[in-house]
Amino acid sequence: MTQREMDRACEILSAARSICVSTGSGMSAESGVATFRGADGLWNNFRPEELATPAAFRRQPAVVWAWYRTRRAQVRAVEPHAGHLVLAAWEARLALSACGSADSEPDRPLPFTLVTQNVDGLHHRAGSRNIIELHGRLDIARCTGCALEQRGLDDLGEDPRCPCGARMRPGVVWFGEMLPDGALELAANAAAAADVFLVIGTSGVVEPATSLIHVARSNGAKIIEINPEATPLSGLANVVIRAKCGAALTAIEERWR
Ligand code: OAD
Repeated sequence: MTQREMDRACEILSAARSICVSTGSGMSAESGVATFRGADGLWNNFRPEELATPAAFRRQPAVVWAWYRTRRAQVRAVEPHAGHLVLAAWEARLALSACGSADSEPDRPLPFTLVTQNVDGLHHRAGSRNIIELHGRLDIARCTGCALEQRGLDDLGEDPRCPCGARMRPGVVWFGEMLPDGALELAANAAAAADVFLVIGTSGVVEPATSLIHVARSNGAKIIEINPEATPLSGLANVVIRAKCGAALTAIEERWR
């Protein structure tokens, strides 16, 4: 992480009227949540086709539920880190600066949108508010029959049922499934309206989340990537910060504040 990259990122961000941030599992790594790919990634030890597809759930619902129950417990045991808090602070700052200005026109998108592929809820716990969760949430169950959603899953059984009689499933998006209703449209609108698109901690290989960077770029946004590793998205970025996001976001915030 060079001074020049940090200064450039800070300059771009502090001049922005609208920021869209897109996060992947690397955003939660410093809180102690496993990523999916890479050396210690979940998909090295677990097979997605046995745990994260509708067919797997039909075949072995109790096994799938057990895996999500374990992940839910792991996430509950950790805390948002400094990088999560910085993003929440930026949302509050941009909301304040837009308040009372021409930017607060009702048809204008909110000045800060956080789009995440993460299902761990850590951005909420850190205080971010305008969050689009493309892949759902670990702490929600949804009925496969009537689509009723249930939160607070402490006393769910091994193969829980809805009051309507149908099976409940984890409220996450599995391979081959559509994103939650309207989520991609909202995210694309935020990406299109953004002056800056900041992409953090994603390998950039899962669609449609990855497509948002193209929407932002073709609408003129400056792109900043924060990731210790190169990704297929790196070549699209105006500024690349090769560092862990906790340190990188904190360093940008120190310059901006
Ligand atoms: P991946 O595991 O594919 O990628 C994690 C990225 O985070 C990698 O590029 C790492 O280099 C980077 N990374 C690791 N530690 C970091 C840190 N401290 N700071 C910043 N970056 C760091 O995770 P995703 O891209 O989120 O979908 O994966 C996308 C989707 O694939 C997930 O939402 C999940 C998975 O299958 C579903 O389950 C539907």
